[in-house]
Amino acid sequence: MRNIQDIVSQMTLEEKASMCSGADFWHLKGVQRLGVPGVMVSDGPHGLRKQEERGDHLGINDSIKAVCFPAACATAASFDEGLLYKIGQALGEECRAEGVSVLLGPAINIKRSPLCGRNFEYFSEDPYLAGKLAAAEIRGVQEWDVGTSPKHFAANNQEYRRMTCSSDMSERTLRELYLTAFEIAVKEAKPWTMMCSYNRVNGVFASESKKLLNDILREEWGFDGYVMSDWGAVNNRVDGLAAGLELEMPASNGVNDARIVAAVQNGTLDEAVLDKAVTRLLNIIFRYADVQHENAKFDRDAHHALAAEYEKECAVLLQNNGILPLSRNAKIAYIGAYAQKPRYQGGGSSHINASRVSNALEIAEEKGMNVIYAEGFPFDKDEANSKDFTEALAIAKAADVAVVFAGLPDIMESEGYDRAHMRLPDCQNALISKILAVQKNTVVVLHNGSPVELPWADDAAAVLEMYLGGQGVGEATDALLYGDANPSGRLPESFPYKLSDNPSYLNFPGDGKNVAYAEGVYVGYRYYEAKEMPVRYAFGHGLSYTTFAYENVRVSAPNMDDASSVTVSVDITNTGETEGKEVVQLYVQDCTGAIARPLKELKGFAKVALAPGETKTVSLAVNARSLAWYNEDLGDWYAASGKYTLLLGHSSADIRGRVDVQFTTQTILPLFVTENSTLGELMAHPIAGPAVAQMTAGFAQSFGGGEEQSAVANAAVNSEMSKQMMQNAPVRLLRNFGGMDDSKISAMINSVNQILQNGK
Ligand code: BGC
Repeated sequence: MRNIQDIVSQMTLEEKASMCSGADFWHLKGVQRLGVPGVMVSDGPHGLRKQEERGDHLGINDSIKAVCFPAACATAASFDEGLLYKIGQALGEECRAEGVSVLLGPAINIKRSPLCGRNFEYFSEDPYLAGKLAAAEIRGVQEWDVGTSPKHFAANNQEYRRMTCSSDMSERTLRELYLTAFEIAVKEAKPWTMMCSYNRVNGVFASESKKLLNDILREEWGFDGYVMSDWGAVNNRVDGLAAGLELEMPASNGVNDARIVAAVQNGTLDEAVLDKAVTRLLNIIFRYADVQHENAKFDRDAHHALAAEYEKECAVLLQNNGILPLSRNAKIAYIGAYAQKPRYQGGGSSHINASRVSNALEIAEEKGMNVIYAEGFPFDKDEANSKDFTEALAIAKAADVAVVFAGLPDIMESEGYDRAHMRLPDCQNALISKILAVQKNTVVVLHNGSPVELPWADDAAAVLEMYLGGQGVGEATDALLYGDANPSGRLPESFPYKLSDNPSYLNFPGDGKNVAYAEGVYVGYRYYEAKEMPVRYAFGHGLSYTTFAYENVRVSAPNMDDASSVTVSVDITNTGETEGKEVVQLYVQDCTGAIARPLKELKGFAKVALAPGETKTVSLAVNARSLAWYNEDLGDWYAASGKYTLLLGHSSADIRGRVDVQFTTQTILPLFVTENSTLGELMAHPIAGPAVAQMTAGFAQSFGGGEEQSAVANAAVNSEMSKQMMQNAPVRLLRNFGGMDDSKISAMINSVNQILQNGK
């Protein structure tokens, strides 16, 4: 075992400070005389962007030839932790083979608005799904003794003014939507590092937030690695270090190192803080450097094949009137530039120098098919080209089936800026509508990293969402179109009909200084369902070439409490003729009425492969946390006692079975009584309630009760009206309607507070 303390104790103040920023764009500093190597980190997240010469964080300069796996928008649609684990393993091996100590990913921010430029790099609008998939990927990478860096911590949900803007929201919203994925990743997979985001959260830079970097990340969640800044996210280096930011990336050219030295020398920074940071850095550096994996290799061809295989699990069949799968004998026209030059990844720091890229047209030709092709629209522009339309329309009309390859051009979807609207390029919409007018057997294949409006969808025979499917997208598209693979992806986000339906619409992206997360916890399906707003395709939706029956939904026990968990099970049968995979989704509905909540929230999922006629039982665990929301008074997760319904289904909009559980909690919510506490909240409290009932006995008359009874008790039993009135009446009203004088009211308040403080 290496003695890290010993190394730290031998370092000079200057050496320690210098460890806290990068040596260059991609390396940490080493200390040669003490045997500390200067290890390398690289992007991430869906491939290795290792730059050997000129570095940049926007994917501009060259990086080594690598394999571009499907981007997170696509892998999230697999709803398959096993798949993410395998992708992680492949990336971990590549990192080992290339001498990379930390892969900068996965990126797990919530897709709050369809417009965020980096949505393609992120998993989902749902934090549970994002967290579970991230944890699986992290486990896969780290199995190779290579670190990961989940990013961007936290609440970085837009590109507009991402380096300065403050994401403003309630604590409950922060916890339930924007921190949960990070929490799951940290608790379940122990990432070696974490990347803090550029933005501020409620006014404080993430890179300087003690609350985020220390109190929540380390103390609550048990994170034991180092935090690095996003590239250039440091505002005040000394404040950041004190808050828990160990590593500034990239190099600060010595400027911030000198500031750290000065701060220690002038007493504004305790040297112990610096020692702790360096200890954390060294722990992770040696966790990588002290292990060898001589057998690790980067087999680009083998990994290309994996990328293609994995993409087949990710694509989502959005609609199908039965036209798919196509017959290879039919007369087929491929239209649209992406048939030949697919869009398979997004722009910016995640941009991979792909070793090769397959396309659907070449694969069909390789298989001996005689597909007719017309470009139809330019690959990277939004310009209608009437000549191409003519040719495209002619081949569409002459064919049995037209397959249009549409999507977002590179320029519309990248790190660094947000999308301006949610539409496809106008030329593509125009072309598709025209084709639909001459050929009803039209299938649209989409390549995009985030929802788009699909104004022509009702007329299309089928729509297949490939997302940004990585460099094997050609093989995957071909296999899915012709039924060599059966689509099994599910939407990790809702597709609203139009942008203005989205809950963040009025507040995204804010004024540049602040962005109000005014929709609170009602993000994505949580909002559309609460508003009863129809969407084009619901969260969790995705079709298959077979069908599945759900039977015998059951729960292992009807009751649960804080410490126990239950298992909800269902028998799934493949009732069709083709083998396929079903994604069973578990949502929880809180029926206690304790607080306003979304109608349902995803709390479990499992993907199961079934041969025709085969039945398998899927079981999912539910514990107290699955039922809970973040209670700000308690400063913790909380589920009220009462009924919860567990919903099992094929998507958020297609629930196939439900079962109730009765939950009992021992948690007593904190309460501090004032004159303006309502009688309703007091009476609902298990400790305050009985005490108040007793103390108000005899002061009841004006609340409509009998002389002997307490106001509260009377109100509760006499009539619904007085009960309602009482609920909202503040304690001080006992003066007006209960005949209590000031001294009695304050005596009561004091003594109830005393009882509450004693906890009984
Ligand atoms: C991105 C990070 C990336 C880093 C290094 C930044 O611009 O936000 O996701 O890891 O650059 O390229």
